[in-house]
Amino acid sequence: MTNQNTLWQSLGRLYPHVKPIIPRLILGLLCALGASMMALAIPQVLRVLINDALAEGGSARTVWVASGVVLVLGVLEAVFVALRRQFVIAPATTVEMNMRTSFYRHLQNLTVEFHDRWGSGQLLSRAMSDINLMRRWMAFGLIMLVVTSLTVVMGVVIMFFTSWALALIFVAAAVPLMVYGYRFRTSYSRVSRKSQDQTGDLATTVEESVHGIRVLKAFGRSREALEDFEAQAEELRQTEIFKARSLAHFSMIVTLLPELALGASLVVGVSLAASGDVTIGALVAFFATAAAVAGPVEFIGPLLAMTFTAKTAIDRHYEVMDSENTITDAAAPVHLGAARGDVVFEAVHFRYPDAQDHAGDVLNGIDLRLRAGETMALVGVTGCGKSTLLQLVPRLYDVTGGGITIDGVDVRSFTLEDLRTLVAVAFEDTTLFSTSVRDNVLMGSDATGAEADRILAEALEVAQAQFAYDLPEGLETLIGEEGLSLSGGQRQRIALARAIAAQPTVLVLDDPLSALDVATEERVEEGLRAVLGSTTTLIVAHRPSTVALADRVALLQDGRIADVGTHSELLARNDHYRYVIASLDDEEIAQLGRAVRPELDDEEALA
Ligand SMILES: Nc1ncnc2c1ncn2[C@@H]1O[C@H](COP(=O)(O)OP(=O)(O)OP(=O)(O)O)[C@@H](O)[C@H]1O
Ligand SMILES: [Mg+2]
Repeated sequence: MTNQNTLWQSLGRLYPHVKPIIPRLILGLLCALGASMMALAIPQVLRVLINDALAEGGSARTVWVASGVVLVLGVLEAVFVALRRQFVIAPATTVEMNMRTSFYRHLQNLTVEFHDRWGSGQLLSRAMSDINLMRRWMAFGLIMLVVTSLTVVMGVVIMFFTSWALALIFVAAAVPLMVYGYRFRTSYSRVSRKSQDQTGDLATTVEESVHGIRVLKAFGRSREALEDFEAQAEELRQTEIFKARSLAHFSMIVTLLPELALGASLVVGVSLAASGDVTIGALVAFFATAAAVAGPVEFIGPLLAMTFTAKTAIDRHYEVMDSENTITDAAAPVHLGAARGDVVFEAVHFRYPDAQDHAGDVLNGIDLRLRAGETMALVGVTGCGKSTLLQLVPRLYDVTGGGITIDGVDVRSFTLEDLRTLVAVAFEDTTLFSTSVRDNVLMGSDATGAEADRILAEALEVAQAQFAYDLPEGLETLIGEEGLSLSGGQRQRIALARAIAAQPTVLVLDDPLSALDVATEERVEEGLRAVLGSTTTLIVAHRPSTVALADRVALLQDGRIADVGTHSELLARNDHYRYVIASLDDEEIAQLGRAVRPELDDEEALA
């Protein structure tokens, strides 16, 4: 990803964030300016000291006064530096926090399709290091760049007034400096972009391997993973070296040219002093000023580097912030009073954005009606698009054609909040969060107090997740990534309880019982039957026992609903259904003399 914004365009985007702290930044700037003025004033005192006090007939008193003034100037400089920090740091960290929060909010807001495309590390590095780089530039880089430039300009003006001939030598040296600075900008920006992107990729690798640590260990692939990581880390190191070289090179030129100018002006200056064209004091003041300016000039290299890095960080930040959420609330949303739960799919088409052109739509004209309160099982061979179809209901993706309605209202006409209150989901891969069992289950429920307790108990009961009471700290036990590890079946039951506790009008379940043993599954189904009475349910089934739970079955084949009916109707009239069910059915498998459990069935059996 490249970004064609100019430096000013990119930096300009920070303005809205910086705006509230501009008064503070200006105070900080004034303090920084104060500090450098103190530094520039010292040579002028030296000039007076040398010309008056050390000249014949000078008095000792002048020496004392001059020393006193130098001391005061030095103390003031230190005070100004401290004040600058004081003014700027706290507000800048507030800006950093706000930017980070709005970044996080935006991430939450963006579509699943966006997250499919972006590596987690790229988002992580943007949320952490890029925003940090921006803050440091705002609080330090920006101010110092302004102050340094002003100091150099003031210094050069003073040098002109002290001796214009000598000052001209310095101005001449600035010309090649600018040409070189321009080239440095291009090369450094490029390599800084590369380095920040590689940091993101590296973070993705770490995230992935930490997440998949069991697989890596079980397959004995830790070594290969480490080698891959090392290769990636080495690439980043090379980029960093290149970056440092490029800066070192520029810094060398920036240091060298003023030094050369200093040498040349020394020769010229001494001869001017010898001919009496400048006073000794002026000569000393000139060189002392040149020395005071040399520091800031050398500082320009790192400051520019910091600015280019900040530009990259801003560009990277806004690549995400500018990504639009295409799944948004309707302009004039419809609010249902009491929802019944009729769900209708009408000529629904869907294709993943990154799908190959020659591949057709995953869903190619789905027509399906679920009556309010009905339980509909969705059956089809693996990879035929069952999960995809379910995700369209809560609008995790939007249909690419046709439409889905609930009680006659298109799902796109609700607010997302309303829609996601109406619809609850349990997915195939159960994600639990690093919080208590209680909070995980009650995630989709607004109930509080005793009401919440009742819902929680009921959901756990229906999902057969009573094991949760026996966890070390009961329902307050921390689960998820940072907490206790649960078994696959336990996770599924918690996720199912979460969907039930949301008390939705429409319940969408993606094979929620696959990891349960038959006895537990039966008990869950009994409980579900009681709950599902009032809820319209679309449930993906991989087992005949799950199909038995349903009032009707819909067969998904080649992106269409090929048939709808009761289990026995479909068995009687549909070959493909028999074929799919045969690969699921316990008894048939027993007849075939195969000892495998149906959910372990391999894909070849279906091919
Ligand atoms: N995020 C995605 N981006 C692109 N293609 C995807 C994505 N998710 C799934 N697919 C593709 O869409 C097709 C349907 O996948 P889906 O997960 O809906 O199948 P499924 O019927 O749920 O299968 P299973 O029974 O194995 O769970 C597959 O070919 C899959 O490769
Ligand atoms: Mg699936």
